[in-house]
Amino acid sequence: MATAAARILIVDDEQGMREFLSICLGRAGHNCTAVASGAEAIRITSDRPFDLVITDLTMPGVGGMEVLRHVCGLPDAPMVIMITAFATTDTAIEAMKIGAYDYLTKPFKVDEIQVVVSRALERRSLASENERLREELRGVQSLDRMVGRSADMLKVFELIRKVAPTRTNVLVRGESGTGKELVARALHNLSDRADGPFVAVNCGAIPESLMESELFGHVKGAFTGANATRDGVFVAASGGTLFLDEVGELPLAMQVKLLRVLQERRVRPVGGDREVEVDCRVVSATNRDLESAIEAGEFRQDLYFRLDVVRVVLPALRHRPEDIPLLVERFFGRIKQEMGREIESVTPAAMDWFLRYPYPGNVRELENLVERAVALETSDVLTAVNLPPMRQRTTGATVVSGPELSDDGIDLDAAIADVERRLIKQALRRTQGVRKEAAKLLGISFRSLRYRLEKLGIEVSRGRDTPEADS
Ligand SMILES: Nc1ncnc2c1ncn2[C@@H]1O[C@H](COP(=O)(O)OP(=O)(O)OP(=O)(O)O)[C@@H](O)[C@H]1O
Ligand SMILES: [Mg+2]
Repeated sequence: MATAAARILIVDDEQGMREFLSICLGRAGHNCTAVASGAEAIRITSDRPFDLVITDLTMPGVGGMEVLRHVCGLPDAPMVIMITAFATTDTAIEAMKIGAYDYLTKPFKVDEIQVVVSRALERRSLASENERLREELRGVQSLDRMVGRSADMLKVFELIRKVAPTRTNVLVRGESGTGKELVARALHNLSDRADGPFVAVNCGAIPESLMESELFGHVKGAFTGANATRDGVFVAASGGTLFLDEVGELPLAMQVKLLRVLQERRVRPVGGDREVEVDCRVVSATNRDLESAIEAGEFRQDLYFRLDVVRVVLPALRHRPEDIPLLVERFFGRIKQEMGREIESVTPAAMDWFLRYPYPGNVRELENLVERAVALETSDVLTAVNLPPMRQRTTGATVVSGPELSDDGIDLDAAIADVERRLIKQALRRTQGVRKEAAKLLGISFRSLRYRLEKLGIEVSRGRDTPEADS
């Protein structure tokens, strides 16, 4: 069972070797992908999961050792078999130390490679089963490249598992750095389109004049500079997943066109007179409050309904501290591998620092902080010495002095409503009644603020003359 169809990546600059391996492993029922350089190997393994990587050691540019280092640091790392014509015991030992499973010297026979491959795959399935059991005991869950154990993230994982196999459009929301792109990739990798392309496009980064051609393509001569016909991202993602990042940044004119494409599943390239059918699943993401953008007339509601069929909301990292140690360990393991650093573990003091930090930049910031700590560490354990000094945290608790529990108890709901009312009024005063801004200050969505205003019976008057009505 261990050698049932596995996803194998072959990395060799020699075409003959790539073909030889693809044919002989393909014949054994495996799903082989071959690339011609170390750089490509690093790119593709960052994008897609593999069970096994077979890489040549000496290649121009990025060599096999670098590929090995990168691969070993990946979550759910594939097994690695190194191939070389210049076997020296030193490199063999080094490769095994970094984490290669085995080492083959050219030339080798078909049987030889097949035996080593099935042994490696068997080992991998045992190892991942063990790892899964171990993590389950610790309450850790992972999904594709994401880890988490907080109730919120477990719910996110469940939702992703449920919708991934469908072609429903998904809107991923969350602050910057919370993992929106990772969710999009998980939706792709866990779908039956996983073998198809995953195309990501940042709607906020394309100049408006090029946007239509970028999304829908153009024909030769459509405009000055259009020297050749070019596919847009919808066509490029056909058979796979299109990730529209920062979809909230699309100008209104493009929103209309996008809506049409989503409805009709066809695109018309700029300057073209025929429409092309497209078959891609659309995952979009935004850290913008689309509800207030709609209210402000900057985002079309009909498009919003199309994109937001299923919504995945990623909570800010400060709202799920249980995930912090897990993420620290994961990044620490990967980064020290990549940097080839022999740092044993994270000290409790450093972990404590990571737990207390507020992470305005969310998981990405955590990752950068771990990287910085690893890079600057001079001892054999990871300390907090190189982490920035902690600023004073301003949580709600320090800003508002809340009610105390008296001897004969308290009406909790009423007390919470009081605090809520006071903070909402403060926020509205500060923003002169602009609800959109007030919601931002409170870290809640516009919709949520509107709901609370109604629930608490708070009237909002706009403008500078807002009465200082407060309790
Ligand atoms: N649950 C997680 N487990 C492991 N790694 C994570 C997790 N969430 C985020 N990351 C990592 O954090 C970094 C930021 O994630 P990602 O790019 O998906 O965020 P984003 O929400 O798209 O950010 P932005 O809004 O800035 O584009 C990535 O390197 C990603 O691998
Ligand atoms: Mg992103």
